[in-house]
Amino acid sequence: MKKSILMLSVAWSSLTASAQQVGLKDVLGKYFTVGVALSTRVTSDGDAAADALVDRHFNSVVAENCFKGEEVTPQEGVYRFNAADSVVAYAQKHHLQLIGHCLVWHSQAPKWMFTHADGTTVSRDELIRRMQSHIRTMMGRYKGKVFGWDVVNEAFEDNGEYRRSPYYNIIGPEFIEIAFRTAQEADPGAELYYNDYSMSKPGKREAVCKLIRQLKKEGIRIDAVGMQSHNGMDFPNLADYEASIDSFAAQGVKVCFTELDINVLPSPQQFSGAGIEQTFEFQQKYNPYSKGLPAKVQQQVDDRWMAFFEIYRRHASQISRVTLWGLTDKDSWLNDWPIKGRTNYGLLFDRNGQAKPVINKIIDLFN
Ligand code: XIL
Repeated sequence: MKKSILMLSVAWSSLTASAQQVGLKDVLGKYFTVGVALSTRVTSDGDAAADALVDRHFNSVVAENCFKGEEVTPQEGVYRFNAADSVVAYAQKHHLQLIGHCLVWHSQAPKWMFTHADGTTVSRDELIRRMQSHIRTMMGRYKGKVFGWDVVNEAFEDNGEYRRSPYYNIIGPEFIEIAFRTAQEADPGAELYYNDYSMSKPGKREAVCKLIRQLKKEGIRIDAVGMQSHNGMDFPNLADYEASIDSFAAQGVKVCFTELDINVLPSPQQFSGAGIEQTFEFQQKYNPYSKGLPAKVQQQVDDRWMAFFEIYRRHASQISRVTLWGLTDKDSWLNDWPIKGRTNYGLLFDRNGQAKPVINKIIDLFN
């Protein structure tokens, strides 16, 4: 009798989170918001299987591409809002907090932003005017609908120097301050974020801490820092990653993990960070698991997920959101970046939309 009770209770406890249909947001949501980046294939075209996963696991959403400058405004004064509007409707329908990504970024910027029709570079005053106009247009249209905005994305190099982007080259370092001030006025109710990759690097960490202090000193609001977290199997260094969380929190802002995924494939030696302009030629040796992940590697990947979520658990009081950069492995940008045409396994749902077993371990960790 005793033995059968024991067996029953073992069987019951192994019926962990999945059988009870518990979602990530139900448990992790007690500590921070749990988000996902979605493509227009899901938000505009419709995908019932994806919707079911979103409904169960997430309470925040960000558009993977369609809020970006090059997508919304192909020519000066011309805005195409269809796709972005669909994301807003999707967020409302599925009761998701909506994040706006992103307003000021050198990549995927509006094509016309930095030059006149004749190809000459715009003046400092003109670029400030265009940047402000873009911020006001986006934030004005979605006022009260977007919870928080990545105001500036990727303004620093890993060593902490300013990135020599057109915004920096033409306006100077003040472009960041001007962008935040404009955003704060455009929608005083929205949270404002600085977002970047390789935020565990000490040089970048220091530069971002300095930026936060400077903005605050000027009376400009910044609510959180986004650590993108396009992570790998051997980067970032976990101690550095934790040190960055502590350092940002010590400046009086929350920390968000805004673009979490794990690149499980081997990388060329020169590869680092997450600059989308960084690409390499396809070679078979960089695509070793096209037929599936060997169990041993899957275990290492699971351990890596747990290492990150253990950090998020420990630092939960400093964190306001963790967003995964995509739903399933099939849609992940990691299949095509930094090398096109690979089979990657960087997210928590597999190519068939099945939750990976590690999800239950993550849920148990926060239970
Ligand atoms: C990526 C998208 O996932 C891709 O679909 C697109 O082709 C390029 O951009 N940092 C960011 C994100 O801030 O906007 C990028 O998203 C990934 C790196």
